[in-house]
Amino acid sequence: MNSKDHFPFAVRPLPYPAKSLAPFLNARTVKIHHDGHYAMHIEKLNRILESFPKYHSLPLDALIMKQAFLPHEIRNEVKLHAGGALNHMLFFECLAPASKSSISESFKKLLSDSFASFENFKDLMKKAALSLKGGGSAYLASDRDGRFHILALNDFETPIEHCLNPILPIDMWEHSYYLQYQYHRREYINNIFNIINWQRAEMNYFSA
Ligand SMILES: [Fe+2]
Repeated sequence: MNSKDHFPFAVRPLPYPAKSLAPFLNARTVKIHHDGHYAMHIEKLNRILESFPKYHSLPLDALIMKQAFLPHEIRNEVKLHAGGALNHMLFFECLAPASKSSISESFKKLLSDSFASFENFKDLMKKAALSLKGGGSAYLASDRDGRFHILALNDFETPIEHCLNPILPIDMWEHSYYLQYQYHRREYINNIFNIINWQRAEMNYFSA
């Protein structure tokens, strides 16, 4: 992950118009998710860290990695909102309009070789996503040797706590899809594969 952002954290603007992910995600769903939920994590994280200048130079991944060393009165809140900020930042950056959602042959081959086929990789991601009972994210991540892992992470947990590099999250909190899909989670997860920014995912893999 190549984010050097630190306190005061800022909401990264959507890298595409909110309406451009339709019909797979409609503009209202994207806008409320980005301007409301993602922004809330940034706001709260800044508020918590305001009186702790010692941590102002730390980027999100370092705050998550070093959470055990943070003062106990802010530890849980920092974990929650740094995780929420990072997962949302990556989620929005890993989406793209369907017309731009193409995967390079080389990255597709890496995933196919690792998971027997590209279709099987997608099925495993979908299974991980559907296995989450409450809020959380399905994640493609990689280890230090470049091996891929698929994770089902609860709440605002990130692959960083598991010493893995985050590549591609799929937000499974109800707020990500409910306005458009209501309880049809499977339809949401099937459709989201039409709007993945594979270039970004590939970059996240190789920049680890
Ligand atoms: Fe979310």
